[in-house]
Order: sequence, then structure tokens, then C-alpha cells
Amino acid sequence: MSMRSAARLFMSGASLLVSFPSHADPASSAPYLGKPLSAAEITQWDISVFPDGRGLPAGRGTAKDGKALFATHCEQCHGPAGRGATAEELVGEPTPPTAENPNKSIGPYWPHATTIFDFLRRSKPPEKPGSLTADQIYALTAYLLAANKVIDETAEMNAQSLAKVKMPNRDGFIRIDAP
Ligand code: HEC
Repeated sequence: MSMRSAARLFMSGASLLVSFPSHADPASSAPYLGKPLSAAEITQWDISVFPDGRGLPAGRGTAKDGKALFATHCEQCHGPAGRGATAEELVGEPTPPTAENPNKSIGPYWPHATTIFDFLRRSKPPEKPGSLTADQIYALTAYLLAANKVIDETAEMNAQSLAKVKMPNRDGFIRIDAP
């Protein structure tokens, strides 16, 4: 390559470099945080349900409604009655926490029933989280609670009743204030 064509190449590279003026302005380019979310977008993600039931939406469902939903959306991974397939067992018998392999499935282990609603709403079914209605999530929560014998099969779950459900292991956790 002759000196002249090398110089031309360098020049064209240089002109290319300076042809992105927006990045040259520090105020508009750094630190690339994007644009603020709209109120509607925030509402879509503002779905946390707290242990005491704060954040539970309107809606209702029973274990009977949940059984059919479970067969359609969950059974292929969790098994026909919530156990015996490839994914986590969702129904289990309580075991003492001191057992060699304590049962940590939701019935014997999870301290708050409201967490089941929160977990299902934000993550299930895995291929399409957010696609189930509040009624469907209440029904699936009721189904799992009834299958674990925590509530009666006919009990309706809604924002008030779900918050009142006492899980068997509610008092089995020790609060530690770690530094
Ligand atoms: C494609 C397979 C698949 C489908 C479908 C599926 N799950 Fe799951 N699920 C999993 C896997 C794998 C885990 C364990 C990993 C995790 O927590 O994501 C899990 C975890 C869970 C847990 C937490 C269990 C625990 O003890 O930590 C619950 C509750 C649950 N699923 C409920 C459901 C419900 C209800 C449905 C239907 C609406 C459903 N799942 C559909 C695969 C699936």
C-alpha cells in the first residue's frame, strides 16, 4: 500500500470515527441508563405480594378450579398430583427439620401461603409467566394448599382468606439479624 492510499484509508477511518456525534456529547451518552419507565410499565412489574398479604389483587379461586388448570399448565413437569415427575415435588409429607433430608416442598416447609401466590404469578407457567389471571392464580394456590392438606378442598382463596392461612411450618424459622 502506498503512503498516499494508507493516508487516505486513515483519513476515511478518521472521518468514520467522527461521524457518531451523539456519543461525543458526554451528557447525552453516559452512563447509558436508558429511558425512565412509564407508570403503566411500572404497574406491570409492581406485583410483589408480601407475607402478610399486602399486594394481593382482587380475585378468587378454589381447589376445584385449580385442579383443571394444574392438569393443563403444570402436570407435564410436576406430575399428576404435584409429584413424581421431573420438576420439584409440590406436595409432600412433613418431616422433622432435623431429619437427614428434611422435606422442603411448599406444604411442609414454606412459612407463608401468600408466597405461593407471588411465586406462581411471577414465574408460572415457565414458558409464559404473567399469562394467568388473578382468579387462575388463586385457584392454583388453593389447589396446592388443599393437596398439601393445609386448607379444605372447598375453601375459596382470595386476598383476605389467603392472608389468614397459617402454614404448618410458620413458626419453624429462626430470625437471625446477620451483620
Ligand atoms: C416446563 C416445566 C414446568 C412447568 C410447566 C411448571 N413448572 Fe413449576 N417448576 C419447574 C421447575 C424445574 C421448578 C424448580 C426450579 C424453580 O423453582 O424454578 C419449579 C418450581 C415450582 C415451584 C416451587 C417449588 C419449591 O418447593 O421451590 C412451584 C410452587 C411450582 N413450580 C408450581 C408450578 C405450577 C402451579 C405450574 C403450573 C401453572 C408449574 N409449576 C408449571 C418446572 C415447571
